[in-house]
Amino acid sequence: MKKITNICCIGAGYVGGPTMSVIANKCPEIKVTVVDINQKRIDAWNDQDLDKLPVYEPGLKEIVGESRGKNLFFSTDVDNAIVEADMIFISVNTPTKTYGKGKGQAADLKYIELCARNIAKVATTDKIVVEKSTLPVRTAQAIKNILDNTGNGVKFEILSNPEFLAEGTAIEDLLQADRVLIGGENTPSGQEAKDALSAVYEHWLPKANVIQTNLWSSELSKLVANAFLAQRISSINSISALCEKTDANVAEVANAIGRDSRIGPKFLNASVGFGGSCFQKDILNLVYICKTYGLDEVSNYWEQVVLMNDYQKRRFADNIISTLYNTVSGKKIVFYGWAFKKDTNDTRESSAIYVADALLDEQAELVIYDPKVTAEQVYADLDYLNTRTEAENRKLVTVVNDPIAATENAHAIAILTEWDEFKTYDWEKIFDLMLKPACVFDGRRIMESSKLKNIGFHCYRIGESC
Ligand code: UDX
Ligand code: ADP
Repeated sequence: MKKITNICCIGAGYVGGPTMSVIANKCPEIKVTVVDINQKRIDAWNDQDLDKLPVYEPGLKEIVGESRGKNLFFSTDVDNAIVEADMIFISVNTPTKTYGKGKGQAADLKYIELCARNIAKVATTDKIVVEKSTLPVRTAQAIKNILDNTGNGVKFEILSNPEFLAEGTAIEDLLQADRVLIGGENTPSGQEAKDALSAVYEHWLPKANVIQTNLWSSELSKLVANAFLAQRISSINSISALCEKTDANVAEVANAIGRDSRIGPKFLNASVGFGGSCFQKDILNLVYICKTYGLDEVSNYWEQVVLMNDYQKRRFADNIISTLYNTVSGKKIVFYGWAFKKDTNDTRESSAIYVADALLDEQAELVIYDPKVTAEQVYADLDYLNTRTEAENRKLVTVVNDPIAATENAHAIAILTEWDEFKTYDWEKIFDLMLKPACVFDGRRIMESSKLKNIGFHCYRIGESC
């Protein structure tokens, strides 16, 4: 069996960085080099101060601290890392297309294609190329076509090894993975490549947790896993709307149905909507693929999961507006949380962005506090929407470091991320600082509404009538 001694990973983002750090840490005899064209990002990965790593994940800095400089390297020298490696992971971003055919649904594969072309250009020895980024089904074929047509005699074996880590628990998910999926061709060389990658993971995972499939099953499984997870959230969120109209409580319903072992208790937390870089993008991808094959009913079925999510975000914002007497113009609303979930500094597709946008349309004054997200990032997210000018965004939105002082003379607090620290605040003090009637809109269901109501707050929690 081919033994891997040198790995290169193209893309030092939320997936590539943590995954390679764990591989390096668990496989000390393998040299792992993570490369990126973004110099600033690589500099941050190399920063002596481990609190400045570009990705915040519990447990990550400890692992980077142990392995960096020994067998884990971060560099912008992409070509040299490709030349040296026997296995190359492609872990670049694949955002939803914002132009042309498939706009708004299909994945934009330009970064993947650029990587493949670069590998084809510089490689001088045989390589195993591993797709790590989430990709539409049959992308491997496109990568293979590019790689096989270089004419320089180098042989490439393509594997699909989709990532299942969730942000905020990435290190734990990598160290204790339920399963690792490896797709490849069922030829002798394809099998050899699958076994070589399996052996990397078997440094710390039981063999039984490594599943080998054909390429297309592996690619599709990633999209389907995310579609099923997101579907559960949209399902419970749809029920949360009904609970608010009746006297049912969504947590009680979730608990009652989750006790059926066929349904299971996980991923049934009603919320202001799912965010993150994967769910929406992957479902839209699935929708697009189905449409391409003329499977309109299948396509419409999955699209509804995204539409329900949009509805939930809109519903939350509408609730704030209607509770504040149908006008939030000039009213100060404090956001607790901006990241798409706790324990990450990632804000991609965060519900907070869309709730903010809806409130800014009504000329609210927003004050944002998030323990891990920078002001620069908040403004970048709002500017990216292109719904108002950069100057307007800076006029209407302030980003602060003191979550308590921020509430002075505020009309309302909206909880958009479930950071644990919010529960530990002195809510009586917050109440005293705010204008009355003081409102809390809990989009994450983290506060005990009875406690807040006893203090005097008007309290809205997703999935409960108030
Ligand atoms: C997801 C998948 O879980 C992971 O396997 C895949 O590799 C990448 O996509 P991630 O997006 O990092 O991971 O986080 P996840 O924990 O799945 O949460 C996604 C969103 O759903 C968050 O906004 C979260 O707050 C929300 N969510 C999750 C709910 O609203 N309710 C729930 O019950 C669970
Ligand atoms: P993910 O969440 O999938 O890891 P990120 O956006 O966090 O996505 O990271 C992807 C990284 O890939 C970015 O840092 C980007 O600069 C890098 N990247 C994109 N294209 C290339 C390329 N052709 N060569 C090297 N790095 C690339």
